[in-house]
Amino acid sequence: MSNQAKLELDGKTYTLPTLTGSENEKAVDVSALRASTGYITIDDGYGNTGSCVSNVTFIDGDQGILRYRGIPIEELAEKSNFVETAHLIIYGELPNRAQLKKFSDLLTDNQYLHEDMKFHFEGFPTGAHPMAILSAMINASSCFDEDLMRWQWGKNKQFDVYVARLISQVRTIAAYSYRKSKGLPLIYPKQSYKYTENFLHMLFSMPYEDFVLKPEVVKALDLIFLLHADHEQNCSTSTVRMVASSQANLFASCAAGVCALWGPLHGGANQAVIEMLQQIHREGDDGSKFITAAKDKNSGKKLMGFGHRVYKNYDPRAKIIKKACDEVLSKLHIDDPLLDIAKKLEEAALKDSYFVERKLYPNVDFYSGIIMRAIGIPVEMFTVIFAIGRMPGWIANYKEIMEEPKSRIYRPRQIYTGRTLNHYVPVAERK
Ligand code: CMC
Repeated sequence: MSNQAKLELDGKTYTLPTLTGSENEKAVDVSALRASTGYITIDDGYGNTGSCVSNVTFIDGDQGILRYRGIPIEELAEKSNFVETAHLIIYGELPNRAQLKKFSDLLTDNQYLHEDMKFHFEGFPTGAHPMAILSAMINASSCFDEDLMRWQWGKNKQFDVYVARLISQVRTIAAYSYRKSKGLPLIYPKQSYKYTENFLHMLFSMPYEDFVLKPEVVKALDLIFLLHADHEQNCSTSTVRMVASSQANLFASCAAGVCALWGPLHGGANQAVIEMLQQIHREGDDGSKFITAAKDKNSGKKLMGFGHRVYKNYDPRAKIIKKACDEVLSKLHIDDPLLDIAKKLEEAALKDSYFVERKLYPNVDFYSGIIMRAIGIPVEMFTVIFAIGRMPGWIANYKEIMEEPKSRIYRPRQIYTGRTLNHYVPVAERK
């Protein structure tokens, strides 16, 4: 069987190379198409465009499969934790004992922000959205390291130190963003706490009064971080790669990822889901009115937490999170009416021909907000939690760009549909 594609254009036949991934995914390589034919390919929203080859994460959207470095998400969710999984994603291997200790120690050593950063937090108004503070402060923190300001891959400090600093400090910045947005005093990280414990401590402790850490709460939040740790070429990761391709530094590239994540169609969906469920609850709807509106393209409504560009089957993360949601709520003895509404909505949507025909299933955000609500995370922090979780994936993709010797700046083309040649008219002569 030929592994080349044939294309007929303007009466001529062109041969295009193809490539096959390790999971048998197939692609036609069109990178030289314009040079040989004068044509580009167009693919609005990149739904059919492979922007890179990558070794990090595999998704089979039809089968509902997600694997980090080959390991199924179900296994990691059951047996691993966020820090270990972050190592796997960034460095390609589960760490042995010594590697894990080194990585954990580096995270602890790099958890403090430069003291002068506190003045930057003071500049934000109370009530500022923590996502705005998060992206601004990740970028600002790079100004406190001269080496980062003169970033050149391979010539700076050890990359491992920057990795640890970013993963560790994003959590400190995230907690400070929340404290600032509420006008609360900032709480420093503690050396003795592990990653997720420390985040909850910085978020909820008060001076001289430590937050009581419940193991089920720590476990649930750690699971949420792990389930969000990477998801191949989604909007924010592609943004990180785009910025990285210009050889921008790691912090600048990941700050851009935070901005891309913020929107309600991407990471902002977890906040939007809770707001939708609250609206349904307030209006005394059993969900059926909302489903009718979500099917009407003129209503401006969508069933948030449903649908995915890649998954045309149940999102495997949603399955894990739904189960964890039931467990956490029962352990904490919480009876949340929003969970009942969510379950009814899911049941109704999965029977409704509109959602069935379009293969719209619950995604990771459908139940994650209910867990976060149950463990006391404020709704405006939901997308920030997603950003903390996604950091290993952004870093791994950044690293791939930097390690690729033939890496080029990302620079798509377009088909121009504006006016043809037009001339300047002085203001006095304009109609
Ligand atoms: N509610 C109602 N209709 C929907 C929904 C939804 N949630 N999602 C898709 N559709 C419809 C869409 O209008 C279209 O209908 P038609 O064929 O009649 O024009 C059809 O389903 C196909 O959808 P699409 O627009 O091609 O889907 P997309 O791949 O462009 O968008 C999506 C994917 C996730 C942005 C979209 O499903 C959506 O907006 N979902 C709600 C927001 C959400 O939950 N986002 C979180 C995604 S998972 C976390 C992450 O990785 O970011």
